[in-house]
Amino acid sequence: MNYRIRRCMVSDAHRIYELCHRELGYDFSEEQVTANVRRLIGSRENLLLVAVDQDDAVVGFIHANNHDPVYAPPMKDIVAIAVDPESRMSGLGRRLIQAVEDWAAATGAKGVRVNAGIEQKNAGVFYKSLGYQYIKTSYNFRKMF
Ligand SMILES: CC(C)(COP(=O)(O)OP(=O)(O)OC[C@H]1O[C@@H](n2cnc3c(N)ncnc32)[C@H](O)[C@@H]1OP(=O)(O)O)[C@@H](O)C(=O)NCCC(=O)NCCS
Repeated sequence: MNYRIRRCMVSDAHRIYELCHRELGYDFSEEQVTANVRRLIGSRENLLLVAVDQDDAVVGFIHANNHDPVYAPPMKDIVAIAVDPESRMSGLGRRLIQAVEDWAAATGAKGVRVNAGIEQKNAGVFYKSLGYQYIKTSYNFRKMF
């Protein structure tokens, strides 16, 4: 199968919603995902890419943004990545991560980081095989308004 990576468009929002829901377990409405896609694709601080097959059907996506703390050099943060189960293990995840690393280097960032939920069983082996170093397991808090 010939896949390619391209910038996300608003018309991809339905598939991104499906991947967020099915592969990442996020319970967020399609309308809200679409609104976010519309906003994020126009933002210089965010990168939203999709992997598509030869029919331009979306089989994966990645979202990254700026991670700019006072205590470390500027980095990019992988917010989400998912590849459709039928398209996995063919190098697409690696290519999506590479695209973010290219963006990071081009914008002067010094690295790429990611927080993976421990329920994402494959994430550890995936990131380690891409050269990512395990840092720590951390608490994750939230307060919604
Ligand atoms: C993690 C995920 C994005 C990987 O996508 P993918 O397209 O299958 O990954 P690739 O084919 O590019 O694999 C890259 C490397 O990771 C390894 N890898 C990926 N998934 C693996 C698995 N389940 N078991 C063992 N190794 C795995 C591959 O063997 C490959 O290593 P290699 O190049 O040294 O052979 C995909 O499994 C997914 O969407 N999972 C559900 C969502 C998720 O966990 N997201 C990450 C949370 S932050």
